Amino acid sequence: MTEEMIRTNALRVLCAQVQEEPQHVVLESHLEGELRIDETGLAGVLAALRAEFGLPADALTSRFVTVREVLDEVVVSTSSARRAPAPPAAPAPRPSPVPEPAPATDRRDLVLEVFRHHTHYAASELRLDADLEGELGVDSVLLASILGDLGKRLGLPKGAFKAGTVRTIDDVLVALRRMTPAEAAPPVAPSTTPNPGEKWHDAAPPPRPHDDGDARTLKDFTEERSRDLFGKVRAFNEFYKKRRDEQLFWYGMPLESACRNRAMIFDEVTGKRREFLMFASNNYLGLANHPRVVEAICDAVRAYGATNTGCRLIGGTNVVHKELERRLARFKNREACIVYPSGYSANLGSISALAKTNDAVIIDKFNHMSILDGCKLSGAARKIYQHNDMADLERILERLADQVDGMLIVTDGVFSMHGDICKLPELCRLASRFGAKVLVDDAHSTGVLGARGSGTAEHFGLKGEVDLELGTMSKALAGLGGFVVGDADVIEYLRFYSNSYAFAANIPAATAAGLIAALDVLEAEPERLQVLWRNIRRLKQHLLDAGFDLGESESAVIPVVIGDDALALRLGRAVRDRGMFCQTVVYPGIAVGDARLRVSVSSEHTDEDLDLAAQIIADAAREVGFEPNRHGTWAS
Ligand SMILES: Cc1ncc(COP(=O)(O)O)c(C=O)c1O
Repeated sequence: MTEEMIRTNALRVLCAQVQEEPQHVVLESHLEGELRIDETGLAGVLAALRAEFGLPADALTSRFVTVREVLDEVVVSTSSARRAPAPPAAPAPRPSPVPEPAPATDRRDLVLEVFRHHTHYAASELRLDADLEGELGVDSVLLASILGDLGKRLGLPKGAFKAGTVRTIDDVLVALRRMTPAEAAPPVAPSTTPNPGEKWHDAAPPPRPHDDGDARTLKDFTEERSRDLFGKVRAFNEFYKKRRDEQLFWYGMPLESACRNRAMIFDEVTGKRREFLMFASNNYLGLANHPRVVEAICDAVRAYGATNTGCRLIGGTNVVHKELERRLARFKNREACIVYPSGYSANLGSISALAKTNDAVIIDKFNHMSILDGCKLSGAARKIYQHNDMADLERILERLADQVDGMLIVTDGVFSMHGDICKLPELCRLASRFGAKVLVDDAHSTGVLGARGSGTAEHFGLKGEVDLELGTMSKALAGLGGFVVGDADVIEYLRFYSNSYAFAANIPAATAAGLIAALDVLEAEPERLQVLWRNIRRLKQHLLDAGFDLGESESAVIPVVIGDDALALRLGRAVRDRGMFCQTVVYPGIAVGDARLRVSVSSEHTDEDLDLAAQIIADAAREVGFEPNRHGTWAS
C-alpha cells in the first residue's frame, strides 16, 4: 500500500468511527475541539485503526491533537510493522551485569515472527486477541512447540510459559511483561569474560511488583477486543487484582463510623479497623452529621416511610419534594427548581432533554463525566473547548453559529478534579454574543462559593446571567440527589422531557427533609462557610510551602498534581499507610498522565488535622523518592 493509500484508508476509518464525512474533515482539524472526539472516543478510533492496519496493541499511543498527527503515525507504524525483525540469534554481549528486558516492541515482533513461522499465517491474520485454538487452529501440541521455540530464542528457562494459561498471543505478551528482567531479557551471547555471578537483584533491590514494566492503566481495558463479550472483564480483573495485591488500588474501603474529619474504616489492605484522617469526603460544611439534619431525616422516615415507590410523575411525589424544590429555588434565587435522583442524572436528563440532533453542546475539556454522558445521550453535536480557554470557545462558537440550531454551553463551576473555577463572566459574554444558552454545574461550588454559598453565579455577581444552574445534593448539602434551577417554563419542560426524571424513582422524602434541614443550617450558621475557607487557606499554604503543585485550585478541592499514574498510585499507597484517606485520581477520573491526589477540605477539620495531613503528604512524597519543586513539577 502506498503512503497515500494508507492515509486515505486511515482517514476513512477515523471518519467512520466518529460519523463524519471525510470531505468535511481537514487534516488540521482538532480531534477534540472540532471533531468532538474525547479521550474515550479516541481510544475507539485508534483501536479501529490498529485493527484495520494489523498494528500491534502498543502502536498509536502518542498524544494526538489533530487528524494529521494520527495519519502520520499510522503511516510510520504501518511501515515499521512491515519491516520484519531479525531474530536475535546472537546479539552483542551486554556490558551490564543487569540485563535490560527487550523493548516491548522488539519482543512483540519476535513473538509474532515465531507464531508466523510455526503457523504459516500472514501477519495481518494473526490478531493478538484471536483465540489460538478456536480461531487459529493452534492446538496444544503446536502451542507447546511455539512456546518452546520462543522461550529458546528469548533465553528463558524451560517451562517459563504455562501453556494452560495461554489462549491468545496477547496472553504471551502479558506473561512476558510479568517476568523478571532476567527472565525476560533477550538471549545473551556466551561471554568471554566470565560473569562475576552477580544477579540482577544483587545489584539493586528487587523492584516493587508494579515496577515490572506493566504500564497499563484502566484505560487499556475500555477497548479490549474479544469474541467473548466478557473477555475484557477477565483481562481487567487480572490487572485489578494485581494492583490490589500491590496495595496500589484500595478504592472503596468501607467506613464503619460516621464520616467526619476522621472516620473508622475497615482497612482491607491490613485487615484491621483503624481511624483515618478523612480528606476524601465532600462534606464541605460538615452537615452530614448535624443533629438537625439527622433528626429531620428520622422524623420524616417515621412520617412518610422508607421511600416513595415510583417516579415523581406517577405517585412518587411527596409534599417534602415540593418544599425542597421551593427552598432550593429560593436559595439559588431562581424562579423554579426540579429535583433529580442524583447529580449525575440531573446532567443526563437536562442536557439530553434540551439539546437535540440539530443543536450543539459545547463543553469544557475538564467537565464532569455526567456532562459528557448527557451530551452523548442527547445526540446533539458535541464540541469540546480547551480547559477554561475562552479564545477556543469563541472559535468554536464562531464556526458553529450558522451550522446548527440551538447551542448550549456547559461548564463545571468548580472543576471536580482540578478545584479551579470556570471563567463565567467571559463565558456569559460569549454566550450572549452568539445566542447560546449556559448551564453551570455547581456540584462543588454549592455551599462553597459566593457569600451565601449559593455557587458560581453568586461568586461572580452574575445571578440572572446564567440560564440554568445545576447542583448535586450529595456534597455540601449532605444528602442525595441533583437539581436544576432556572426559569419556570424551562423547568416544567424538563419534568416531561428528562428521562432520568420521568422514568426513574426520585430521592426518598426523608432525604428531602434532611436536605431542607441542611439548607436551614447553612442559612442559620454562615460561620461554617468562613471556617471552611480558613481551612482551605491553611492546608493550601502548607502544601504550597512544601513545594507541591496545586494547579489553579480556588475551592475546597485541592489537587496535589503528580502526572505519572504509577507515581501517583505509589504516593497514594504511602499516604494510606500513614492513616490518611484522600483520593488517588487516575483514569477515568482524569486523563492518563495527569494523575493526582485529590484532597477535599471540610469545615470540620481542625488545625491539627490540616497540619497533620500536609505533613503526611510531604513524608509520603519523600518515601516514594520524589521531591516536589516549586515550579509545579516533580523532580526525582
Ligand atoms: C461536577 C459534578 N457533576 C455531577 C456530579 C454527580 O453528582 P452525584 O454524585 O450527586 O450523582 C459530580 C459528582 O462527583 C460532579 O463532581
